[in-house]
Amino acid sequence: MPMTILVGAQWGDEGKGRVVDWLAASADIVARYAGGDNAGHTVALGEQVFKLHQIPSGILHRDVVSVMGNGMVVNPVNLVKEMEALRQLGIEVSPERLVISSRAHIITPAHIALDHAKEAALGAAKIGTTLRGIGPAYLDKTGRAGIRTGDMLLDVEEFAERLISAIETANSSFERQGAQSLDARAAAESYLQAADMLRPFIKDVSIYLYEALKAGKTIICEGAQGTLLDVDHGSYPFVTSSSPTAGGALTGLGVGPLFVERVLGVAKAFSTRVGGGPMPTELKGDVSLHLRGSGANFWDEFGTTTGRPRRCGWLDTVMLRYAVSVNGFSELMLTKLDILSGLPELKLAVAYEIDGALHRYPPDTNEQLARAQPKYETLPGWQEDISGCRRFEQLPPAARDYVARVAALCDVPINSVSVGPERQQLVQRL
Ligand code: GDP
Ligand code: IMO
Ligand code: MG
Repeated sequence: MPMTILVGAQWGDEGKGRVVDWLAASADIVARYAGGDNAGHTVALGEQVFKLHQIPSGILHRDVVSVMGNGMVVNPVNLVKEMEALRQLGIEVSPERLVISSRAHIITPAHIALDHAKEAALGAAKIGTTLRGIGPAYLDKTGRAGIRTGDMLLDVEEFAERLISAIETANSSFERQGAQSLDARAAAESYLQAADMLRPFIKDVSIYLYEALKAGKTIICEGAQGTLLDVDHGSYPFVTSSSPTAGGALTGLGVGPLFVERVLGVAKAFSTRVGGGPMPTELKGDVSLHLRGSGANFWDEFGTTTGRPRRCGWLDTVMLRYAVSVNGFSELMLTKLDILSGLPELKLAVAYEIDGALHRYPPDTNEQLARAQPKYETLPGWQEDISGCRRFEQLPPAARDYVARVAALCDVPINSVSVGPERQQLVQRL
């Protein structure tokens, strides 16, 4: 049963891309199961830093086939640009190396315009989306009004007609609101060009993966976003519109649960969030600046997709414990442990106090979560630069204790941590 599901355990940007890149070295297929180009997955290979949005992080390995699952929403024009940018960097992107599900949904220019309009209308209560049209595209999917990637295999006229009709339907609502309507024909033109490029890549992914699994191939399911952004299990409505949790991998790829061998959670050694919504351990001040970085390094906490500064705070084991329970992690990996070096002491949120009561798991409503006061445990920090460590015994005792305490508080094994963005900057328990 050679399938690993990799899930972000927090609010996204946990370092999933770099972990997938590591696991892909011993995999045949990397299959992304949710989200669209709201994601930004960074993989650093020496001088080159790759930022992947729709294409799975496995693409950087010559012998790996990358798969985009039906659970994704695809922006065909941006996908063609991303393919081109990879080719410019010397990465082969061919139908032998990339497979796109025929059942994924297409993000249209109308979805993007609607995302902008909805956020503007929400004003101060906005979700803080990436403005990539993600919510409106999933809304059309579940409302059974979407256009699918497989529709690009139709007769060109038929595909164009569907697209123009979808944009014109949205236009009538824009006009009612006094907003500028879109030029449906011009938009359709760029989508038709993209469809021409993408047609050879489109397949039934569910069958492709089933046959690969039957043939004994090893598959890494690459999550996007994170557990706390899940439309069902996150802090609704400050979530994305897909299912980044482990269950989403099965529906988002069309595979059965008996193939799953392990569920690997990826969490940053502290908390970050980009966009709106409650974040109980959020900090202002020096520690927050230490965690975020100045922006001088590519790994500093500024959005990979939008460039927005990420909100930073102490690690929240109430949320992590919840992520362990929602996903059933067999193992958790901690990233960016190196960033904690130099802080005199470290705090871990171990419970919330809400209206006088203690909670070990997040409360039922977002309103209660907004009132949560974290209860902290304080641990000693370490001053050493740990970016050169490769074995657990090489880490300073305070760093080992920090990792052990997180594992104990969340009741999950932690066998690997990362101490820098590069492929080899990993510490594993042997
Ligand atoms: P993803 O969306 O989960 O793939 O994560 P992002 O790529 O959006 O953000 C994670 C950032 O942290 C990227 O810039 C990575 O290069 C960087 N990163 C990952 N692991 C480490 C680590 O262990 N140490 C440091 N310093 N940076 C890391
Ligand atoms: P990766 O895969 C961090 C957040 C947005 C916003 C909310 C809804 O790189 O971890 P959307 O555009 O999806 O409708 O926005 O979700 N968000 C992410 N935050 N990492 C991501 O992806 C995210 N994708 C969406 O900031 O709060
Ligand atoms: Mg990211």
